[in-house]
Amino acid sequence: MSSYDITSLNDFIIRKQKDFPYATGELSNLLHHIGTAAKMVNAKIRKAGLVEILGKAGAENPQGEQQQKLDRYSDEVFIDALKSSGQCAGIASEENQNEVVFTGEFAGRGKYVVCMDPLDGSSNIDVNVSVGSIFSIYRRVTEREEEVSIVDFLQEGSKQVAAGYVIYGSSTMLVYTTGNGVNGFTLDPTIGEFCLSHPNMKTPETGRIYSVNEGNYIRFPDGVKKYIKYCQENDPPTNRPYISRYIGSLVSDVHRNILTGGIFLYPPSISYPSGKLRLVYECNPISFIIEQAGGVATDGTGRIMSLKPESLHQRTPFYCGSPDMIRKLVGMCC
Ligand code: AHG
Ligand code: MN
Ligand code: MN
Repeated sequence: MSSYDITSLNDFIIRKQKDFPYATGELSNLLHHIGTAAKMVNAKIRKAGLVEILGKAGAENPQGEQQQKLDRYSDEVFIDALKSSGQCAGIASEENQNEVVFTGEFAGRGKYVVCMDPLDGSSNIDVNVSVGSIFSIYRRVTEREEEVSIVDFLQEGSKQVAAGYVIYGSSTMLVYTTGNGVNGFTLDPTIGEFCLSHPNMKTPETGRIYSVNEGNYIRFPDGVKKYIKYCQENDPPTNRPYISRYIGSLVSDVHRNILTGGIFLYPPSISYPSGKLRLVYECNPISFIIEQAGGVATDGTGRIMSLKPESLHQRTPFYCGSPDMIRKLVGMCC
């Protein structure tokens, strides 16, 4: 009979809290609620195909993209969980045009705000391909007696207190950082707990995987085209040609590349002059994780987490992954 040491997500959060003598437990409580929401979304996703949740919701999100039923469901679950934690005074989400402000004595006075993509890659759901959730936590800059406002959500990524993602893949994992490394937890469905499975995740200095939507090649800037050609060249001493892997689900593509080493690219193109991915709730949280795992995340000219967001749904070119590979790309592109 095999066995494994069980450290549940909640055990781990509490253990880490003790490393900070003045910690109040508010962040721990918030993370705990995110874990619960992730389990609820997971339960629904695992039933996709059996119950009436596949397909489009018949409406568009603020960026004019088709909302799936599961986009809506996930958004509601995370909002409810965060509100009921009492630690979060408002959220910004891909599914809502404006920030959602929690009011009242309990939630309204929370110390944190959360920016999230409740379900990323949702067009993959109907064809049974992995999707994810992404979250980013900031300490609010407004006073706790006030309602939160847009300034709380438009902070530089470098101000993040914690960030993470959930990947609903062949197994479900929650990966997060509070700025002291990255830890990954796999959901054990038999006990319904996220259990520590990937302590102190580190990405290799270099890798062999490049991940980009090559269908858009003709529309990419010349420097990016040059780098893609470099990836495809035959040069066995430098392990080229590299391996092309692209799921079209940011969380899944990034998660794989963190573990194996690799580079992810979403460049600007004629159809998306600023790239497609959103700075506040996609690129910043992923960048925090990548950096904490020893990787690099850039828009091609500078660090993603140094960008000052101007609006909630702003897009940015996004390149992240193993440091050697990003250095090579930036050397060719910019
Ligand atoms: P979302 O489903 O939240 O709108 O995001 C999808 C994103 C991301 O997951 C992925 O990396 C990217 O879109 C794929 O875009 P392309 O289909 O243009 O390659
Ligand atoms: Mn997304
Ligand atoms: Mn989404």
